[in-house]
Amino acid sequence: MSTPEKLYEGKAKIIYATDDPEILLAYFKDDATAFNAQKRGTILGKGEINTAISSHLFQQLEAQGVPTHYIDCPAPNEMRVKRVKIVPVEVIVRNIAAGSLCKQTGIAVGTLIEPPIVEFCYKNDELGDPLLTRERLLLMKLATPKQLEQITQLSLLINQLLSDFFNECGITLVDFKLEFGMTSDGQLVLADEISPDTCRLWDQSETDPDRRVLDKDRFRRDLGNVESAYQQVLKRVLEHTPN
Ligand code: TMP
Ligand code: ASP
Repeated sequence: MSTPEKLYEGKAKIIYATDDPEILLAYFKDDATAFNAQKRGTILGKGEINTAISSHLFQQLEAQGVPTHYIDCPAPNEMRVKRVKIVPVEVIVRNIAAGSLCKQTGIAVGTLIEPPIVEFCYKNDELGDPLLTRERLLLMKLATPKQLEQITQLSLLINQLLSDFFNECGITLVDFKLEFGMTSDGQLVLADEISPDTCRLWDQSETDPDRRVLDKDRFRRDLGNVESAYQQVLKRVLEHTPN
């Protein structure tokens, strides 16, 4: 087989073409960045762990009626996915106040958000992924009104399904980021990854605000034990995934 053509290299993944024009190969790296790549590092084993966690979550979501780009994992760091045109919007769902929400509003970390909220950021590194209003998103034609409605409803459904699943794992899904894409036949599907890089996950058996963190905030905030937190999430996901 010829060397696969690299189509794109992002901060955490490399995307390769395959022999099938409708299928891409995502390679998950151990590289970690934060604060729009101002902070860089490596989380040993992250690529494999995030591939495995994402794969399990995508399969569960598919089984529960959420269309995703997931096909399969041919190797521990690799995921075959449907080729999609990514909607250049990061969709954030929040169940509990943390991160930029607290920084920007003064709301206390840990405040319950009921009902959950859905936010949108413009996926643009140069601009620093700014928070968008729905009106700005439509003004910029980043999505059609129909896509925006579908994205919102799917994100809330995904939140319900993932929150229930993580609860069974003894983990609270605080917030997370999703990306969506359009397949060549015009279907909106969940894309990218769902992993401790893209979710805030709090261990329900810990009350200490730093010790409970099982996600990339350990790297962002220099809390230590980053690798073991990622391993812990994978272990619990595998233990609770139905066969
Ligand atoms: P935020 O509170 O920093 O806005 O992050 C909200 C959620 O989105 C959190 O679970 C982490 C995730 N996230 C990403 O996946 N990628 C990013 O670039 C950022 C800033 C956040
Ligand atoms: N991945 C993002 C970056 O490096 C930020 C983050 O996850 O905190 O820019």
